[in-house]
Amino acid sequence: MLWEYPTVAEQEHVVGPEEFGELVAGLDYPLYVVTVQHAGERSGCLVGFTTQVSIDPPLMLVCISEKNHTYRLARDAERVVVHVLSPDQQAHAELFGEETGDDTDKFAHVAWHEGTGGVPVLDECARHMVGRVLQRMTFGDHLGLLLAPEETKVTDAPVAYTLGDAEGMEPGHSA
Ligand SMILES: Cc1cc2nc3c(=O)[nH]c(=O)nc-3n(C[C@H](O)[C@H](O)[C@H](O)COP(=O)(O)O)c2cc1C
Repeated sequence: MLWEYPTVAEQEHVVGPEEFGELVAGLDYPLYVVTVQHAGERSGCLVGFTTQVSIDPPLMLVCISEKNHTYRLARDAERVVVHVLSPDQQAHAELFGEETGDDTDKFAHVAWHEGTGGVPVLDECARHMVGRVLQRMTFGDHLGLLLAPEETKVTDAPVAYTLGDAEGMEPGHSA
């Protein structure tokens, strides 16, 4: 069953996005590149709304804006890949966060290979997981994907690219 967020009219007390933005201003968190393949098409975007939500079993939640090209594939895909970026991967962050698959084939600009089930895996990311989609939930204007890791790869020191590194970047699709 797909859980739907109640409409604003159904809620009595609502804090708007600007006021809420003040609450989260300055908070830093890792940014990931999430890639997906469905029906022979590939897509991927920079994602900050991502977190581990269970230890045993390990589970991750990834949230994709319904405006994104990536969303249109993630709606139906069986798996996605969550890549951890390193602080020196600004070029990857800009490609996946500032360009949109509506206009650009991002995969023509990075080295990648097909992983399990044809998912696009980025060669230059030291850490990634292939996650199987267990559940989908609509969270306001984002689609939440609950992921069970099927494979993980870790080849480098644990330092991550974060929101602070992305200062000044303009998303390919406005929020
Ligand atoms: C710092 C930053 C954080 C972002 N976080 C998210 C996010 O959590 N979820 C999301 O769907 N898009 C997020 N985006 C936006 C997408 O990465 C961006 O709009 C991208 O160009 C969409 O590409 P697509 O249309 O090819 O999917 C973020 C962008 C930036 C710059």
